[in-house]
Amino acid sequence: MGGDGTKSIWWNGGLIPHADAKVHVLTHALHYGTGVFEGIRAYRGPSGLSVFRLSEHIDRLFDSAAAYKIDMPVARDRVVQGCVDVVRDNALDSCYLRPIAFVGFGPLGVYWRNNPTNVAIAAFPWGTYLGPEALEKGIRVTISSWTRIHHAQFPTTAKGCGQYLNSVLAVREAHEKGFDEALLLDRHGNVSEGSGENLFVIKNGRLRTPGLDSSILPGITRASIMELAVDLGVPVDEGAVTRGELYTADEAFFTGTAAEVTPIREIDGHIIGAGGRGPLTTKLQAAYLDAVNGKLPSKKHWLTPV
Ligand SMILES: Cc1ncc(COP(=O)(O)O)c(C=O)c1O
Repeated sequence: MGGDGTKSIWWNGGLIPHADAKVHVLTHALHYGTGVFEGIRAYRGPSGLSVFRLSEHIDRLFDSAAAYKIDMPVARDRVVQGCVDVVRDNALDSCYLRPIAFVGFGPLGVYWRNNPTNVAIAAFPWGTYLGPEALEKGIRVTISSWTRIHHAQFPTTAKGCGQYLNSVLAVREAHEKGFDEALLLDRHGNVSEGSGENLFVIKNGRLRTPGLDSSILPGITRASIMELAVDLGVPVDEGAVTRGELYTADEAFFTGTAAEVTPIREIDGHIIGAGGRGPLTTKLQAAYLDAVNGKLPSKKHWLTPV
């Protein structure tokens, strides 16, 4: 994980050697978190290697940049093409892509004016985010003592680099307590999301997920699962999820580009359902994996061939 051993990185419009993709220590983003990024996966399915929902990820990258008034020096189409080019140039198979746009070297005042924006895209192999058994057996989650950053403090719909200090605190605390992942509440005490995943609960055959007013990042995996659920005839709605609803859910799972569809088997000693991957989670996870691997004809438009 992290791109060691890959050959090239896309940098401001072209491919450069991996070892040359460096920044100065006085880079603005290094000090203040003034960057935005994406996490994307490419999958090799029966009909070849494809990037999953590339267009939606790059739209979100540009929206994140707009939220922070970070000027993008490269056109959207070139970034889309850059993602394909970097995977191809590194002769990668299934892999993870990390586009990032950040405020570069220049005056170090918090209010930047003329510092350049850099855009880079790395691609590298990255297996199961939460461990090899997570997708099948589910994970153990703890409710964080940290509250999810609120949308009145940050544009939580954006993937801003500095925002991730909130996730860093939560996931570190969870691991130190012996759990696999953290679940953060919003400042009203409703469930928000994981450190890098959205949450779904299932009760009596219905799917529910916190909405934007719970300060979530609107995940692209989340949107995909909502659409796949509708296709499968599973009722789905978004809105506040309370802690009580969580503990008494029949099933619960996380979604994310990195985490894919990861069942939750326990939350702070509360066993969820039968304590493993529930039947509806299994069905939705299978549909998602079929979609990313190009095995779902109705979702072929989600794939960009490399
Ligand atoms: C905080 C947070 N929430 C949710 C998600 C899930 O988003 P997506 O499904 O677009 O990867 C991520 C991952 O990017 C994230 O970092």
